[in-house]
Amino acid sequence: MDNKSDLLVFAHILNPKTDKKCEFIRDGAMWLTLKKTKAEKKYVIKAIGKASVVTKKIKSGFQVLDYSGHVIIPSFFDMHFHWVQDHVREMPKSNLLKWLELYTFPSERKFQSSQYSAKEAKYFFKRLSSVGTLGGACFSSIHENALEHAMENVVGDFVIGNALMTMNSPKYLTQTKASALKLVRKFSKKYKKRYALTPRFAIATDPETMKEASKIAKSHGCFMQSHLCETQNEIDFVTKMYREFPGFTRVKNYTEIYKKVGMLGAKSLMAHGIHLSKDELEMLGKTKTTLIHCPTSNAPVKQKGLGSGLFNFKQVEKYKIRWALGSDIGAGPILSMFDVIRSFVDQNTKDKIKGATYTKALYRATLAGAEILQLDKRCGNLDVGKEANFLVLPKIKMSAQSTVETVMKQYVKTGQSNRKKYDNLLEKVFYRGELLHSKS
Ligand code: GUN
Ligand code: FE
Repeated sequence: MDNKSDLLVFAHILNPKTDKKCEFIRDGAMWLTLKKTKAEKKYVIKAIGKASVVTKKIKSGFQVLDYSGHVIIPSFFDMHFHWVQDHVREMPKSNLLKWLELYTFPSERKFQSSQYSAKEAKYFFKRLSSVGTLGGACFSSIHENALEHAMENVVGDFVIGNALMTMNSPKYLTQTKASALKLVRKFSKKYKKRYALTPRFAIATDPETMKEASKIAKSHGCFMQSHLCETQNEIDFVTKMYREFPGFTRVKNYTEIYKKVGMLGAKSLMAHGIHLSKDELEMLGKTKTTLIHCPTSNAPVKQKGLGSGLFNFKQVEKYKIRWALGSDIGAGPILSMFDVIRSFVDQNTKDKIKGATYTKALYRATLAGAEILQLDKRCGNLDVGKEANFLVLPKIKMSAQSTVETVMKQYVKTGQSNRKKYDNLLEKVFYRGELLHSKS
């Protein structure tokens, strides 16, 4: 057997499987092999397990990557973030609508300049890779060039969409219905399942545009994404406004607005879903719509969030609604999904809600995202046959009592007092077996 290009990676390995199960391979190894097709060349996982077992399977000629004593986890999926909000992450926050008006809209306006957006895209997506996020769902601004720059610079498995804003928005960020639909037509056709139809939220996108656009997006197999029930004043505003529109006079709730315009379904991702009625939960479950929970964005203002409230994951699961984690950059202040994991566990633990474990958070920050984007056959965790997309964490002390929970807790602790440290936590980032980032 010719193993010349094969790689043998030594490390402790965490391999998330479900909310309750994460394989913990102490002194483990991964055998990576090169898979070549006409279109691409990539490393996939040929074997994973105890080092003593995997080394017996592999013959000779391979290269060794020795991370003994380090921990390896799969790369992250950040299922809701705005790449054009990098500069408002730390702006003062009091509530959603104020923060949008005062800081976020003026900041997104700058992406109108192609020169600016090209420069920002290079800078942002390089940093996104460096924190180990190699998949997810991303909002761009309304501008055509910004979407193209994001598509050109992103590394990994992302769906990206240009925000649609046709009403209730500043003049400088308002499109006509025709220009919004023109972009949807162009990008749906060009990017297909890498494109996400992205009405900003029902406050900012008129119903005719959403209805027409969702038909176009569906006909090309695109994803769809928006915001839903993030804050109470947003809900009051949107339901009152829509009841004035023909065809919407009897809408009972926010979710029904999206249902009526064709925005719910198995390829639809709705961020937040904090303030949902039983009817809405039922509707989301039945339509197989996904909710994206963004704990750092929803966290209290003191924790640099918007103070929108705590996502009720137990209730969401009771209604069999699929969900995953997101950073919601820039409402969430920190790029790394380690901070999102920390916030999810901490906020729920503080409220004495059981079941918010690191095992669960790691699954919801990796494989759950791949499942939602229908990519789990080829990535999302470190199962045999999948792409070698993984992160190397610093060495830590292991004891006989170490578990997934204690190991994750140790890493989370490193940024507890200074959350910015998470952005520099990873020692190496590998994408399809290639070294993408190394700690400087
Ligand atoms: N709702 C509408 N737009 C936004 C946004 O940019 N961020 C968040 N968190 N919520 C929104
Ligand atoms: Fe958002």
